[in-house]
Amino acid sequence: MCVRLAREGCSRVTCLDVDLEGARETARLVEAAGGRAGHAKCDVTRRDQLASLLSSLPPVDVLINNAGIVSGAPILQVTDEQIDNMIGVNLMAHFHTIRAVLPSMLKRGGGHIVGISSAAAFTAAANIAPYAATKYAVTGMMYSLREEMRKFHPEIKVTSVHPFFISPPPHCLEHWQKKSRIPDVSATEVADKTVEGIKRNKATVVVPSYLYHLLVLLM
Ligand SMILES: NC(=O)c1ccc[n+]([C@@H]2O[C@H](COP(=O)([O-])OP(=O)(O)OC[C@H]3O[C@@H](n4cnc5c(N)ncnc54)[C@H](O)[C@@H]3O)[C@@H](O)[C@H]2O)c1
Repeated sequence: MCVRLAREGCSRVTCLDVDLEGARETARLVEAAGGRAGHAKCDVTRRDQLASLLSSLPPVDVLINNAGIVSGAPILQVTDEQIDNMIGVNLMAHFHTIRAVLPSMLKRGGGHIVGISSAAAFTAAANIAPYAATKYAVTGMMYSLREEMRKFHPEIKVTSVHPFFISPPPHCLEHWQKKSRIPDVSATEVADKTVEGIKRNKATVVVPSYLYHLLVLLM
C-alpha cells in the first residue's frame, strides 16, 4: 500500500507499526521504488505515543488505518485479553488516529481517511465473533463518519475497505475457508483497489468487488 501510494505521487509516506523492523522494511521498499518514506515504532492503541509521533511529523493528508489483529477461537475459548486487544487495535485505534489527525486536516482544508475493515463486516463465520464484531463496528463508525463529513466538512473524504482473505488464513478460519470457493486476493490487489478508491472518493471498496453483491444476496 505504501509503495503504491508513493508511486501515485504522495510526497512522503510514513509507516507507523508496533513492529519496528516491519515498518523499516516498508520504508525501505518505498524508497527503493523512488518515494520518500519515514517509519517509527508506534502502538496505535496508545494515544500518548500517537500524539507525540504525530506532533513530530509533517501534516497528514491521507490516513490509512491498516493495523489489525485476529485471534480465532470458539467464544468460550478466546481469552478476555485477546478480545480486549482486538477491540483496541481493530476499533479503538481508528478513533485515536482519526481524532488525532482530523483537526489538522480541517485546518488545512482537506484530507482523506481510510479504514481497512474486512469482508468479515458483511458476513458471518465460526470462531471469529470478536474479530467480526470489531470489523462490523469499525465499518459503522466509518460510514457514520463519512456522512458527518459529507454534511459538515465535505473537504474531508472517507473510504472503508473490505478485503476477502489476503493470505492463507490462520487455523481458526478453517471452517470458513472450507466453505469458500472464492480465491484469496493478493495484497497488491488490495493496495491497488484501495488507492483507486481514494482517487475516486469511493465510500466502500470491496476486494474482489463482486463479493459485495454476493454477500448482500446471501445475508
Ligand atoms: N489477511 C487477511 O486475510 C485479511 C482479510 C481482510 C481484512 N484484513 C485486514 O487487513 C489489515 C491488514 O491485515 P494483514 O493481513 O496485512 O495483517 P498483517 O499482520 O500482515 O499486518 C497488520 C500490521 O498491523 C501491525 N499491528 C498490529 N497491532 C498493532 C498495534 N497495536 N499498533 C501498531 N501496529 C500494529 C502489525 O505489526 C502488522 O504489521 C487488518 O486490518 C486486517 O484485519 C486482513
